[in-house]
Amino acid sequence: MWQNALNVVMLALFAILAASASNLDGYHGYNKYTVFHDNEDAFKYLVKLQTDYAELDFWLLTRNMSIVAVAPTLQGAFEARLNQLNARFVANALMEEMSSYNETLTNCLNSECELNRPRRQARGFFSHFPRYSEILNYMSALAARHPKNCRYESLGRTFEGRHIAALSISLNSRGQARRVAYIQAAAHGREWITPLTVLYLANELLNNLRAFRRVLEDVEIYLVPLVNSDGYEYSFTTDRFWRKNRHRYAGRTCAGVDINRNFPNNWNYNGASQNLCSEVYSGTGPISESETAAIARYLEYNRHRVKLSLDVHSFGKFLFYPFGYSRNVAAPTRNLLHSVAQRAANQIAKYRGTQYTIGTSAGILYEASGGLDDYAYGNLGIPMSFTVELPGENFHVARSDIIHICKETFAGFIEFIRHVSLY
Ligand code: ARG
Ligand code: ZN
Repeated sequence: MWQNALNVVMLALFAILAASASNLDGYHGYNKYTVFHDNEDAFKYLVKLQTDYAELDFWLLTRNMSIVAVAPTLQGAFEARLNQLNARFVANALMEEMSSYNETLTNCLNSECELNRPRRQARGFFSHFPRYSEILNYMSALAARHPKNCRYESLGRTFEGRHIAALSISLNSRGQARRVAYIQAAAHGREWITPLTVLYLANELLNNLRAFRRVLEDVEIYLVPLVNSDGYEYSFTTDRFWRKNRHRYAGRTCAGVDINRNFPNNWNYNGASQNLCSEVYSGTGPISESETAAIARYLEYNRHRVKLSLDVHSFGKFLFYPFGYSRNVAAPTRNLLHSVAQRAANQIAKYRGTQYTIGTSAGILYEASGGLDDYAYGNLGIPMSFTVELPGENFHVARSDIIHICKETFAGFIEFIRHVSLY
C-alpha cells in the first residue's frame, strides 16, 4: 500500500521533471526584439554585433529590419543603444510567444481536436515536427516502397555519428541520369520547417512519377533533407534556438560551427567569426566539419552533372542567388539567376499569395562568406545555385501551417527543377 503510494508520487515527480526539462529552459526572461532601422549606421552596428558579439542571437538581419533574441541582463543596454541609433523597436517576451505554439498542441489533446482527428491523421507526417530517427524511417520507407525509382543512402556521418541521409530519385534507376538537381535542408538546427519541405517533395514526386515524367527526364533529384542532424536534435532536447553543428572542442564550453560559414569560397572573409562562441563561427578552416566535407565530397565528385543546388533555410521568404559574401561582386549570370528565381517565386505565389523577395543575400541581408550557394556557383561552376528562406516569423510555424508551406514550396522546387534540363 505505502509502496504503491510512493510509486505514484515518484511517477508524478518524474512527469513534472520530464515536462519541465525543456528546450526553452534557458530562455526565461528573454525578449524577442523586432527592430526597424532605416539608417545605414544602425544596420552596420547590428551587423557588427552579429559577427563580434556572441551573446546576442540574430534570428533575422536585413538592411531595414531585424529580429534579435536578447537575454534579460543585456536588454537595458541593448534598448539604450537602439534609442541612440534612432531605431524603433518592439519587444515581446519570448516564452509567451513560444507558449502560443504549445497551446495549439495541448488544444489538440482535448475533445475539440478529437473531432478533427481523421483529417489530422490524413495529413499524417506533415502535421508535426519529426525527430531525426523518424525522418530516416520516413526516407527508408519511401525507398522501400519505390525500389525502382528511389535510393536511400548515407553521405557520411555528423560529428556525433549520425547519418547524413540522402534520397536519390530518378525515372530509371538503371543508367545514370545526365543531370542532377541537388537540394539540402536543415544546415541550421533550429530551422525545423525546412526538412519537411524536402521530404514532401520526395513523397510527391514518387507518388506521381508519371505526371512529372517531363521534369524528371534525364534528371536525378538528390535530396539531403537533414544536413545538421546533431544541431537539429539538440534543438529538440536542449536548446530550441541552436543553429550550428555540435562540434565540441576539448577544454572549451562553447561548441559548434556554423555549417553555412564553413564552405571554401572566401572562407571567413565577411559575416563570419573566429570566435567559437559566435553563432557564425566559421570553424578552424574551410571544410573543417564532417557535415560540410560529406556535402563537398558529393558535389565535387558530381560537379559536371549537378546543374541546380538549393539550400533550404528559414526564415524570411527570400530567394537568394550568389554572391552572398560581398555586395560589390556580381555573378556574371545574375540576370539568368534572377529570372529563374522570379519564375519559382511566381509559382509559389499561386498557391496562396505568399510573396518572396529575390536578390543576393549580401544586398538584402548582410555580407556573409562560406555559404553553400557561393561555393556551388563560384568554385564548382554549378549554373543554378540558390538559398531559399522559407516563411515564418520565428523558427517555429503553427502545425496547421506546415502542409501549406510544403505545398507552396513544392511548386517553387518543381519550377527550379524544370530548368535543370536546359543545361
Ligand atoms: N541566412 C543564411 C545564412 O546566414 C543566408 C545565407 C546566404 N548565403 C550566403 N552565402 N551568405 O547562413
Ligand atoms: Zn539558416
